[in-house]
Parts: sequence; structure tokens; C-alpha cells
Amino acid sequence: MIIIKNIRQLIGIAPSETLRKVGSEMNDVQSINDAFLTIDDGIIKDFGESSRCPLPSGKDEIIDARGGMVMPAFCDSHTHICYAGPREREFIDKINGLSYEEIAARGGGILNSADLLHQTSEDDLYSQTMERVNEMIAKGTEAIEIKSGYGLDTQDELKMLRVIRRVKETTPAVIKSTFLGAHAVGRKYSGRQDEYVDLVCREMIPAVASECLADYIDVFCDEGFFTTEQTSRILQAGAEYGLVPKIHANELACSGGVQVGVAHDALSVDHLERTTEAEIEVLKGKKTMPTMLPGASFFLGMPYGRAKDYIEAGLGIALASDYNPGSSPSGDMRFVMALGCVKMRLTPEQAFNACTINAAYAMGVSQSMGSITKGKRASLVVTKPLPSLAFIPYSYQTPYIERIII
Ligand code: NIG
Ligand code: FE
Repeated sequence: MIIIKNIRQLIGIAPSETLRKVGSEMNDVQSINDAFLTIDDGIIKDFGESSRCPLPSGKDEIIDARGGMVMPAFCDSHTHICYAGPREREFIDKINGLSYEEIAARGGGILNSADLLHQTSEDDLYSQTMERVNEMIAKGTEAIEIKSGYGLDTQDELKMLRVIRRVKETTPAVIKSTFLGAHAVGRKYSGRQDEYVDLVCREMIPAVASECLADYIDVFCDEGFFTTEQTSRILQAGAEYGLVPKIHANELACSGGVQVGVAHDALSVDHLERTTEAEIEVLKGKKTMPTMLPGASFFLGMPYGRAKDYIEAGLGIALASDYNPGSSPSGDMRFVMALGCVKMRLTPEQAFNACTINAAYAMGVSQSMGSITKGKRASLVVTKPLPSLAFIPYSYQTPYIERIII
């Protein structure tokens, strides 16, 4: 057993039946001051006030938190970290005034990453992806969803998903994989978008399913990418193989993507930089988690999602990094939390819940991650002594992690 003692604040406690937080619950972060926590076989066994801290036996390992906080590790429910190299040249194009859509329309963007991925070996892709996973773990993230979508033909999509599977098997972090064949139309299918959708439905999905390579299915349902009709077809084809949707919607326009996602029982609908009342209305009472990616808004200079309006309407929201080479080259969930507070006016408690329990829900792991709960994985961050939870997004660059428990 591991005993963590001298915890000044144990933060993010939730009962096991809480799988997500909605509306006013998002302001609630339960904590115990002056606490201990015990871990048995990687699982949280017990916690409480220090007066109840068990006396160690010879076999127990003691971790002295020395007055720091202990909190659940971040979950990052939306990333594209399986990519074959950065795209900093497009960053310069953007500085010089080109938009994300203009770069994509010139054959850059996602297609650039697909060309590079095609030339990259599986081993190299694996090392690059693992490097990013390790970078994220060091910043306090211990569950990561990773999408395909830079293959854009059957062989290369499978190559990506096999690499993600290898990552899943070799990292101590929890990994979920998502098939995103419909991220863009592959170069060979340029101008033949419907044929590409046929390929996704008839060839890619069955191939992915036959090797059990994906937990989820995603489509970039947005202006200039895939229509709502095409998205419906793809999600339908995925459903035949039990693939649950998590989709990209409303990044570039009010695309109707949220409505399609909800109609197909999506676990999450992600981006949502553009929202009208219709999107908020359709999400009410549904199991779909609206997920916002403020790192992409920051990097592309887009509007930030209307997180407050969602919460006021009684919905929960999750925040994720969208870590990818084009629109969000960072997997730092603390920065995401800070953007949530500064740019979306979330309280630190709302941002914290959005990056932990709700993010865990949005990737289907909230039974075992995202809060301090007996029986959940001991995926924890021990901090240096901090004045309060608000300090984390406030002083967003000050090193605060003392130790990662994974
Ligand atoms: O979530 N919006 C679509 N896909 C990614 C960007 C991928 C890329 O540019 O490489 C996103 O922002
Ligand atoms: Fe994305």
C-alpha cells in the first residue's frame, strides 16, 4: 500500500455515482483539508482527515506531500498527437494573414500532415507520439484520447491506429483511440468527396473494426469539410460496428454538426466556437458532452466557446487541448484551464471540473478517472504548497507539480 500523508488540501472528491457535472454542479469542487490518501494496487483505497491516517506497516510506502495539494490528474478528451512533424511554416503563413480555411484550400493544413505521415515509418511515428504523451504526463495529464485522421487512405489510417494501439499498450497513461478518416478528403480523392465518403464507409470502417483499432468515430463536420448528410452516413456506418461518435462541429460555422452528433447519440460534440441557441437547446437532457477547445481559439484567433451560456442552461461542458500541429500545438491542460477562466470567464472550479470529471466523461473513462473516489485509478498530481485551487489557472506558468502518480 502507498500512504500519502501531509496533504494540505485533497481536492476533486466525488461520489462514485457522479460521472459528470452539469449546470450549477460545475461550481462544486469538494475537498478535505489536512488529509491522507491510500493507494492499493494502483487504486484509491481510502482517504480522509489526517487524524484517521493509518499507521504504516513495514511494507507500506509513504509519500510525504509536505503540505501540497493532491488532485486528480487531468483528462484530455480530444487530441491529434499521432502526427509526423510540426507545421510551423503554416504558422508563419497565418501570421502573414492567411486563415486556417485558406491554408486548407491551398492543399496545406491537414493534407500536409497526411503527406508527411505517409513518408514516416511506424516506428518513427510511435516515438514522436510517445514523446508527446510523455510531455503531457509531465504536465499532469493521465488520460488521453488520440485521433487518426492524417492518413486519409485506408493503409495510412490503419497505420496511425496501429501506432495508437502500441502507445496504448506501452504507456502507463489511459489512452482511447478514435477513427477520424473523415478529417479531410484524401489527396487522391480531390474533387470526389462523395467517393471518399464511400471509401470511409465501405472500406475504412470495416477494416478498422476488424482489427478492433478504434474506441470511437469522429467526423470533421464543418464548412469546407464534411456536410451533415455525409456525417450522418459515416456515423451510421460506424454504428453498425459499435463505434460511438465524438465529432468535430461548429469550429468554422454553425454547421449543424451538433444536431447530427446528438441525433447519433455522440459521447461528445467538440469545438463549438460558433453556437446559437439551437445548439444549446438540442443538447439539453442528452448524454452528449459539449466540449470546447480554447487552445484552438487562442492559436487561430477564433471566438471562444460560450461555455457560460451552456452552464447557465443547465448543461455540463468539458475542456480539451486539441493538441495538433495545425490549430493547437500544445497539450498543456493547465493552460487550457487558464484560457477557460480568462477567456471564457469560467470560475476556477468550473474549469477544474471541465478538465477532470467532465473530460473523463467525454472520453468514456469517468467510471475510473477524473475524481478522488474510492475504487478509481490513483491517477494523481501532488502539488507544491499552493494557496488555493485558483492559483493553478491564475499563476499559469509557475511550476506547481511536485510529483505525478500514475
Ligand atoms: O481540431 N478541426 C479539425 N482538426 C483539427 C486540426 C487539425 C490540423 O490542422 O492538423 C482541429 O482543430
Ligand atoms: Fe480536433
